[in-house]
Order: sequence, then C-alpha cells, then structure tokens
Amino acid sequence: MNTQPIDVLLYGAGGFTGRLTVAELARHAPPGLRWALAGRHRGKLEAARDAAEGPSRPAEILEADSCRPETVDAAVSRSRVVLTTAGPFAAYGDPVVDACVRHRAHYVDITGETPWVADVIERHHAQAAVDGTRIIPFCGFDSVPSDLGTLLVVEHLRNRGTACAEVVSAFRLRGGINGGTAATAVQLFESGQARRSGHPFLLDGAARPRLSREEFLRERDPKGVRWNADLRRWLAPFFMAMVNTRVVRRSAMLAADAGRPYGPRFAYREFMAMRSRLRATVLAVGLAGVQIALASPLRPLVKRRLPPPGTGPSEEVRRNGWFRLDLVARGEDGRRAFGLVKDRGDPGNTVTVKCLCEAALALAVDGDRLPGGPSFGGVLTPATGLGQVLVERLRARGMTLEASDAPLDAASGG
Ligand SMILES: NC(=O)c1ccc[n+]([C@@H]2O[C@H](COP(=O)([O-])OP(=O)(O)OC[C@H]3O[C@@H](n4cnc5c(N)ncnc54)[C@H](OP(=O)(O)O)[C@@H]3O)[C@@H](O)[C@H]2O)c1
Repeated sequence: MNTQPIDVLLYGAGGFTGRLTVAELARHAPPGLRWALAGRHRGKLEAARDAAEGPSRPAEILEADSCRPETVDAAVSRSRVVLTTAGPFAAYGDPVVDACVRHRAHYVDITGETPWVADVIERHHAQAAVDGTRIIPFCGFDSVPSDLGTLLVVEHLRNRGTACAEVVSAFRLRGGINGGTAATAVQLFESGQARRSGHPFLLDGAARPRLSREEFLRERDPKGVRWNADLRRWLAPFFMAMVNTRVVRRSAMLAADAGRPYGPRFAYREFMAMRSRLRATVLAVGLAGVQIALASPLRPLVKRRLPPPGTGPSEEVRRNGWFRLDLVARGEDGRRAFGLVKDRGDPGNTVTVKCLCEAALALAVDGDRLPGGPSFGGVLTPATGLGQVLVERLRARGMTLEASDAPLDAASGG
C-alpha cells in the first residue's frame, strides 16, 4: 500500500465541479506539488484525470466513499491539504471534515450550506484552533468575492484612520446552474434545515447573539426593492445573500477576536443590482416564489424540472459567464470607500473552481504568510483564514479585487 504523503487531496473529483477542479489543478498546480484524486468510482476519476490537459498530473487515485468513513480516513491521514467538491455537504461532508480535524489536515470546500457549517463550527472550531488546523468552508463563488471584497474596503478605511460602520454590496452576473447545486438547495428544504439558515448570525457559533425581535427585523434578509444612490441601481434580494452575509459576519466576529475588528457596530448587507425598478421587483417576486414552492407540497414538482446531479452548464455558458460585485463602505466618521470584485467565466463553475484551487494552493504553498501565522486555526472564513494571500493569488489569475476612495470603473451589465 502506498504511504507517501500527499500535499493536496481532491475529494469528489468525479462530480461536475470535481472534474473541472481536476482540469484546473492540472493547469495551475506548481511543479513538485504532489496532488491526488479521491472519490467513489475509480473509473470516473481516471476519466477526469485523462481528460485534463496541463503540465501537472495527479500522482495517485484513491477510492474513498463517505458511506465508508474508514476509506475517507485512510486518504485524509496521508494529506496535508484537502479540498472537496462532494456535495450536498450535509450528506457527504461530515466524514471528510471530521477526518481533517482528526489528522490536522487543512481543509477547503465549496459548500453554501450554512446550517451544516454551523454544526461543523460547534463540533470542531475549538479543537482546530488549538491544533492550528485551518478548516475553511465557502471557498467557491459563495462566498469568496463577498468576503474578500468586504475585507478590502474595511482595510482601506482602516488605513484612512476610521473603523467600518456598514458595507452595502450588489452583484450583477450571468451564468448557469449545476444539478448538484440544485440538489443541494432542495436537500436544504427536505431536511428541514432551511428555517435555521434564516438566522442572520447563524455562523457566529457560541458568540451568536440572541436577537430581540427588533434586532432581528433590522438584520434579517431584505425582501423588497430599494434605490441605491451610490451604485445608481435598484437593489433586489440576492438568492446567495443568505449565505454570504453570514460568512462576512463570521469574518467580522473572528477578526474582532483576533484584535483587528471591522468596526464596533459593523453591518453587512448584500443585494442584486438591477437597472430598473420593474426588473428588481420581478426578481424579488420570483425569488420569493421559488422559496415558497420549495417549502410547500409543490417541491416534487419543482424538483422534476431541475437538472440532475452530475450535470452542469455547457462549455459555452461557462466561457460567456461573468460577475461583478460593487461594494460601498461607510466609515464611523462618515468617510466612504468603494470596492470592486469582478471576473470573467461562469460564477458557479469557472470562478468557483478558480477560488477553490487558489485557496487550496495558498494553504499548501503559502503557509507562513497566511493571516494569524502558521499556528492559527479554527473553522475560519476565506477572509480570516486566507485573507490577503488569496487576494494576491486571485489577482495573479486575472480577477479584479480593488478598494478606493472613489467609485471604481463605470458600471456595466445587469
Ligand atoms: N460555492 C459555489 O459557488 C458552488 C458552485 C458549484 C457547486 N457547489 C456545490 O458543490 C457541490 C457539488 O456540486 P456538483 O455540481 O459538482 O455536483 P455533482 O456533479 O452532483 O457531484 C457530487 C459529487 O459528490 C460525490 N458523492 C456522492 N455521494 C458520495 C459518497 N457517498 N461518497 C463520496 N462522494 C460522493 C459524487 O461522486 P460520484 O461522481 O461518484 O457520483 C460527485 O463527485 C454541491 O453541494 C453544490 O451545491 C457550490
């Protein structure tokens, strides 16, 4: 049996995002990095390996199945860094993250399942912090742009001498949807966990405030539309804000714990930016309709219309996708800062895989430069676990991540 150490283990390599991740690592893994594939079906993993073009090849293929945790444990025990795309994470994620904490392997994933991560935090944050193991969920499109964009505008205000009071951000995007993502959204409702995700501070762990009714109404996810004069756009509810806002709030809490608070009354809100009030209203009503349908007896009907797991958008859709995130921050002294995060490619696939791989490579290669120093750990966020190192890596891969005193780059699209 091979017992050689593995620098980076990719778990779930046979799925739609997993196969794209194999292709990305083949192109971008640095020379000398020993990386390996793990998953249920050797044949699928071999096909993913053979389809990938690039100078770097996976050193090994390991069979591992979340329904047989001992197989996952065996693969993780040899690994320094694990990245996983096997989701729904509430269904397949526990054996992987549990083994990472047990064997002190750093961990990144692309989950957007906040109730599952809230349970991971309860189970593992304290031990991972003591051991210096970085467990970093949300390293895909949710929630890297939101979390790093906020970090940049907060740091910009700090450098100007003021703490941050509030950040408002708004996405514009074009892309497709994966069957695995649709299955994960349905699973959230089927498992009865969707209600939990409504808590604005779900990811604050033991520090989660007990909100009064008044506080809850102030912090809850917005339902209506509103005009934003800074962005000169109508803002509508954004379907991923229920994930991203929780992640940014956890970053603010962890940063305060580490002695670098975002601000004493920091607040973060996230929207979809639209050109007209009518479009914003249609989006708001459509989103509410989907949520109601998923929570009702209509769910099986919705489920039948969704793409099946293992499938995703065509290469053309992935190539022609894009996103843009504008951020406006207000300092405690009234000063403002503006942020911009944008990139080309389908957000749920091209951008997700880029963020995930760069996060894993940062853990594997840049350990000494990561925030908090080499012995810092816990169940972290992209901003607190990877921070400026991930910003630099993504910039080097062509993503725009900027903060400034003035609005950045004339608005386009949407
Ligand atoms: N953050 C983001 O922006 C973002 C973007 C895209 C996807 N996602 C999330 O990523 C997850 C995967 O999405 P996807 O589109 O790649 O889905 P997918 O194609 O259905 O892939 C699911 C993966 O899970 C694996 N799996 C299923 N049961 C398993 C088990 N018992 N043990 C080990 N692995 C098992 C599958 O293995 P087999 O190949 O052997 O069936 C497959 O590799 C979803 O939860 C989705 O929500 C997030």
